[in-house]
Amino acid sequence: MPPVCTILTVGSVLTVLSLMNVHGYPTGAPISACETMVPGHVRTSAQTSLAPYSIHLSSSMYSRDEPLTVTIIGPQYGGILLQARPIRHTQPYGTFPSPHKGFKTINCSNPFDSLTHSINSLRQNVSFTWNPASHAVGDIEFVATIAQNHNVYWVGVRSAVLSNANPTTAVFTTEAATTIAMTTAEATTIDMTTDAATDVYTNIITYGSDGSGSGSSAHYQNIFIIIVVNVIITLTM
Ligand SMILES: *[C@@H]1O[C@H](CO)[C@@H](O)[C@H](O)[C@H]1NC(C)=O
Ligand SMILES: *[C@@H]1O[C@H](CO)[C@@H](O)[C@H](O)[C@H]1NC(C)=O
Repeated sequence: MPPVCTILTVGSVLTVLSLMNVHGYPTGAPISACETMVPGHVRTSAQTSLAPYSIHLSSSMYSRDEPLTVTIIGPQYGGILLQARPIRHTQPYGTFPSPHKGFKTINCSNPFDSLTHSINSLRQNVSFTWNPASHAVGDIEFVATIAQNHNVYWVGVRSAVLSNANPTTAVFTTEAATTIAMTTAEATTIDMTTDAATDVYTNIITYGSDGSGSGSSAHYQNIFIIIVVNVIITLTM
């Protein structure tokens, strides 16, 4: 290959590489960024200054079947990775149904639990709809990585804490809640069996009215039937 061609080829490759890197991930954050939320941008590091972005929420509480509006307020940005997370946990919670054009969801721990950009363009003050999962997990927060360009990005931009609007449904510890994925029907059943468990033994005493038909002994005027019901609760996952 003549030297001129070699130089041109190297030049083209470098141009393509630098175009790809303008916004880091032109088509959104990959699964590998799910937990750390740190972009894999080469030779860059997150801004240490206070992010010029804030995450506004349409409510300070979340409740099953009640979607929330999440808005990223601030200057224009090119890339984003957004998740709701239980406080001090790294697994996302809830889903982003049908995000705006130019955005998409990725499946980090569960389907549609994280939101990222899908095309390379600048945007500002975009709102997203978010749905809580069917099980409550106590306090949550929204966490985002927001990139203005390849070199300038903030990691760990946080919303205010969002509390569960129905704390009585969150009687389970976080650990239990993650293992027991409760549907409404299951939750009702568990409540009932818990009540039953309070009286571990239920004694049903039946008095025979006149002893007729028993025939075995005339000494007994009354027949006591004691039925002991053992309530065994088996939680099957
Ligand atoms: C994400 O989950 C949905 C629902 O299960 C599935 O249809 C989709 O293919 C998943 N996406 C990827 C990239 O695995
Ligand atoms: C975005 O929100 C900021 C802060 O409220 C405001 O100054 C700016 O004009 C808004 N930009 C657009 C395009 O809505």
